[in-house]
Amino acid sequence: MAKIKTKFVCQQCGYETARYMGKCPECGNWESFVEETINNESQQKNTRIILDTLPPTPINNIKIGEEIRIPTNISEFDRVLGGGLVQGSLVLIAGDPGIGKSTILLQSSNELCRQDKKVLYVSAEESASQIKLRADRLNISNNNLYIYPQTNFDSIKHQITTEKPDVVVIDSIQAIYSSDIQSSAGSVSQIRECCNALMQIAKQENITIIVIGHVTKEGNIAGPKILEHMVDTVIQFEGDKYKSYRILRAVKNRFGNTSEVGIFEMGEKGLKEVINPSELFLKEYQQSQATGSVIIVTNEGTRPMLVEIQALVGTTPYPTPRRVTNGVDLSRVLQILAVLEKRVGLNLSKQDVYVNVIGGIDIQEPAADLGIALAVATCARDVVIDPHTAIVGEVGLSGEIRAVNNIEKRIKEVQKLGFKKIIIPQSNNVEEKFDGIKIVKVGKIIEAITACITANN
Ligand code: TYD
Ligand code: MG
Repeated sequence: MAKIKTKFVCQQCGYETARYMGKCPECGNWESFVEETINNESQQKNTRIILDTLPPTPINNIKIGEEIRIPTNISEFDRVLGGGLVQGSLVLIAGDPGIGKSTILLQSSNELCRQDKKVLYVSAEESASQIKLRADRLNISNNNLYIYPQTNFDSIKHQITTEKPDVVVIDSIQAIYSSDIQSSAGSVSQIRECCNALMQIAKQENITIIVIGHVTKEGNIAGPKILEHMVDTVIQFEGDKYKSYRILRAVKNRFGNTSEVGIFEMGEKGLKEVINPSELFLKEYQQSQATGSVIIVTNEGTRPMLVEIQALVGTTPYPTPRRVTNGVDLSRVLQILAVLEKRVGLNLSKQDVYVNVIGGIDIQEPAADLGIALAVATCARDVVIDPHTAIVGEVGLSGEIRAVNNIEKRIKEVQKLGFKKIIIPQSNNVEEKFDGIKIVKVGKIIEAITACITANN
């Protein structure tokens, strides 16, 4: 009898080794190795498939076909996808459990069915009646929508290839297993094998496949980062489980922009698109606000948004002061604090600093720097910034304020929401006048602080 060969696979990054290890040399996680059986049969099968594919083509003979997009008719979702689902692509939607992944995909499936597309919804986690209950709640009923509760990958593959739907939803990749692989569902080998096979089906049959993936406690897409490399598009579904808004963000997109975000509100009847996000984020903004609260205008993707940033600065009871951030990168904040100390002379060495972005949104662009700096500086000095002022600008290491992109669009958004003043970088060279809004141009961080403080006195 042939000896069963095994290998140890890191469940976080997919690193393989012949012997057990306590710590993964690739990703540094502890106790992440699981023993899995090596299956030669499936490897042989893969080789056969590769031989079947087309031979290499000279570049001049390749015809460019316009990619066919199927809009989901949920505008926020389409925006993140880059204008709809591309036919024959594999899309991964990742997020924490309970965030609303099944809900958005059931709602999108319904919209697709209404355009006479056939959708196969493979439910590996919930029973058909559970899905039906959710569908009733969302007012969904359509004869083109097929629910298929199944965890066995071979059966799923059979259904896809015989039924030939236009779109397939797999809810979720962690719950399905292929009998070719010995390890349990959700392990790296299973996910890799199933995802690979789904990719082949998507390309060969020209079927769009959407896969749901859960996120681990550490915030990685569960199990493998490798999943991200295998699919065409990765969309992260974020948000605070205890708040009603949810944010869709493209992390990778072979067919579109990755800086777009889509915003939804979870309600009684499922997810509703938020067409005007600034209003949502400013809903709780106190006009007679406390110190350390500023409004910045961020430009996520093609749309500007007004977001509130709060900072709290106070004397530390600890030997080393604490720096805590939520929604902005900690190292970015540390850099801004260093600039404030060196270029403005603000002493923060005995102060704890907390910076929080309101609304659960993650801000990645440096145009938020000046807002963060002013929130910290005004909180440390105990002054309130005029509540009708918005702020935008990148802070350089010598304390200079650097230009940001799409400045006109940002100013228009601020103007639309009834703000009276906007602080912008001098180097943006805005000559145009905007009705009802005063534009204050600043070249140095100290000028921005003076502009805020003097306005109040
Ligand atoms: P779900 O889509 O099941 O999340 P996931 O698939 O990401 O695990 O949604 C889970 C939450 O959404 C659940 O706590 C209930 C809530 N919800 C609503 O508030 N309204 C609704 O109409 C629906 C369908 C769900
Ligand atoms: Mg679910």
